[in-house]
Amino acid sequence: MVDTFDEEENLWRAARHPSLMQHIVVIGKTGQLARALADRAASHNVQLTCYGREDCDLSETTAAIEAFAENLPECDGIIIAAAYTAVDKAEDDQNTAQQVNGIAPGVFAKECARRDIPLIHISTDYVFPGNGTAPLKPSDPTDPINAYGSSKLAGEKAVQDSGARAAILRTSWVFDGTGKNFMTTMLRLAQDRDALNIVADQIGRPTFAGHLADASLIAVKKLIADNSMKGGLYHVSGSDQPVSWAEFADAIFTQAIEHIPHTMQVTYIPAAQYPTPAKRPAYSVLDISAFERDFNIALPSWKTGLEEAFQDWKSN
Ligand SMILES: NC(=O)c1ccc[n+]([C@@H]2O[C@H](COP(=O)([O-])OP(=O)(O)OC[C@H]3O[C@@H](n4cnc5c(N)ncnc54)[C@H](OP(=O)(O)O)[C@@H]3O)[C@@H](O)[C@H]2O)c1
Repeated sequence: MVDTFDEEENLWRAARHPSLMQHIVVIGKTGQLARALADRAASHNVQLTCYGREDCDLSETTAAIEAFAENLPECDGIIIAAAYTAVDKAEDDQNTAQQVNGIAPGVFAKECARRDIPLIHISTDYVFPGNGTAPLKPSDPTDPINAYGSSKLAGEKAVQDSGARAAILRTSWVFDGTGKNFMTTMLRLAQDRDALNIVADQIGRPTFAGHLADASLIAVKKLIADNSMKGGLYHVSGSDQPVSWAEFADAIFTQAIEHIPHTMQVTYIPAAQYPTPAKRPAYSVLDISAFERDFNIALPSWKTGLEEAFQDWKSN
């Protein structure tokens, strides 16, 4: 049987049995995923301690990050939510991207191995070259085409080599109603433009940060509860049909129709007409079935995530 996540039931249980709460350390505080984790922790009966850049700059030396990791408080598991996510900037800043995305995750993974606690690490669809046409399985060959993807792949390998019981969740096209992302950018541009050219030959599946947070918390709790689970590589994105960026933009404008001053005209263009410093994969739809099977959960549609993110956008 596949579970759906019952927020009300879990909140009720948390209120009745506070001592059953697990303590999870989150590396990251201000990003989309870290904020969603903080919002949703109580409904998973989990207590979080989140650390931001001011506590530990992940671009610091490995020795400095090791010292920070060793001194983390006692906890039942760790989630790494922070990352160098500026995909275009990473092309000219490869050393920092490698340190933050490629090296730092391995340090936290080794600390998890030492303490015998599980780790959830987040990676990306950009580890794939994007030349396929069928949803990508975790075992499909990787071959990143940009510096960000290479740095994230190095991070996956560092976590895999650490000996920790770690689940690496590759995700794609993360959005929420308040962060810096494609959805909020579209809604900002729509305030004073009525036409936009958007790339239509890159296909993926958007992921609501709240759904990614739920998946991360479900995964860490399952690894805590079941010592025989080794973790592994998984894909987590919104379910439902894949879209191009242009189709995603249309879905955003349809959702927001009463809150933008005019009808938006989206012109579908090829990526070749919108050159960026970093190349993006043309096709990076993730096959999420292994995660759904092993964690016994149906991942929600990105469309329901869009509705929720839009409610947050309106109230901010
Ligand atoms: N966003 C996407 O579309 C996307 C797609 C695929 C995979 N992912 C992966 O999903 C995970 C969560 O991403 P997100 O969307 O939540 O990212 P985000 O909103 O861009 O946030 C990134 C976070 O990392 C922190 N960070 C960056 N450099 C740091 C450093 N040197 N030291 C300490 N903290 C640092 C940032 O802190 P400051 O606020 O201080 O800068 C911020 O809190 C990441 O692993 C990312 O690679 C994201």
